[in-house]
Amino acid sequence: MNQTAIITGASSGIGLALALEMGRQGYNLGLTARRTERLQALKEQLLAMPSMAGKQVEWLAMDVQDTAQVPKSMTALIGKFAQVDVVVANAGANQLTGVGKGQLQEQLDMIQTNLLGAVATVDAAAEYFRARKAGHIVGISSLASLTPIPKQAAYCATKAGFSMYLDASAIELKRYNIHVTKILPGFVKTDIVDNMEQFPFLVSAEQAAREMMQHIRKRRSTGVVPGYPWRAVKPLLANMPSGLWRYIKI
Ligand SMILES: NC(=O)c1ccc[n+]([C@@H]2O[C@H](COP(=O)([O-])OP(=O)(O)OC[C@H]3O[C@@H](n4cnc5c(N)ncnc54)[C@H](OP(=O)(O)O)[C@@H]3O)[C@@H](O)[C@H]2O)c1
Repeated sequence: MNQTAIITGASSGIGLALALEMGRQGYNLGLTARRTERLQALKEQLLAMPSMAGKQVEWLAMDVQDTAQVPKSMTALIGKFAQVDVVVANAGANQLTGVGKGQLQEQLDMIQTNLLGAVATVDAAAEYFRARKAGHIVGISSLASLTPIPKQAAYCATKAGFSMYLDASAIELKRYNIHVTKILPGFVKTDIVDNMEQFPFLVSAEQAAREMMQHIRKRRSTGVVPGYPWRAVKPLLANMPSGLWRYIKI
């Protein structure tokens, strides 16, 4: 196997765990984020793995909020490899924000990163894959795309928007032999928000990455992670009565 994957937001959490899991499976890797010292450390860790002997690891600083720069950065990173097979649009942020509580900028920032930045990443990947007539785009959305959550209006909106973008892209890109996988994580222990321990069915980033890889390798259109219990709960999320939130503290 000589597959190459690019992962955005590889400096921590899910992106970092996914890079290590792909490293264990012998992928050449292109890594992006803003904290480049972390990407350099990850590169060294990856190249020290026996499975990565003879493999290529490159990184590039990329702020996905700068959507004008994203296509140029993606082209530059893709150009460092003989061929790229998979692009994972993972970079994202989350923050509790109240509607009408003076947090417009925080909400807009989240939309810029999670939706506009993710769309710019997928678009750049699709342009490259269209020319190749082959490729696989993986978008890290969220189960929060399915259910409205108080104090998460902007975050839910970004993930609902990104999920829809991925679903529509999947139909559009199929004829170019480009596969699209939408990943819907539940709660994964990372630094994305404080006190992750309070959330139910929390899994480590390593477990999430292992499960995500199974969906990616099978090129599934949707992957719920962790599968238990969220696969069974997923159909209920879209129809959850809003009154239930009276009993849930966020
Ligand atoms: N953890 C969960 O429970 C959970 C659940 C559902 C979905 N997700 C999604 O999973 C993805 C990864 O989140 P995580 O939990 O692994 O969080 P994390 O540990 O905070 O990692 C976020 C990653 O995104 C990068 N990033 C953030 N803003 C960026 C920007 N403007 N430009 C470029 N990179 C940026 C960060 O890199 P730099 O700061 O170095 O740039 C970091 O590598 C996100 O899309 C998140 O919404 C997470």
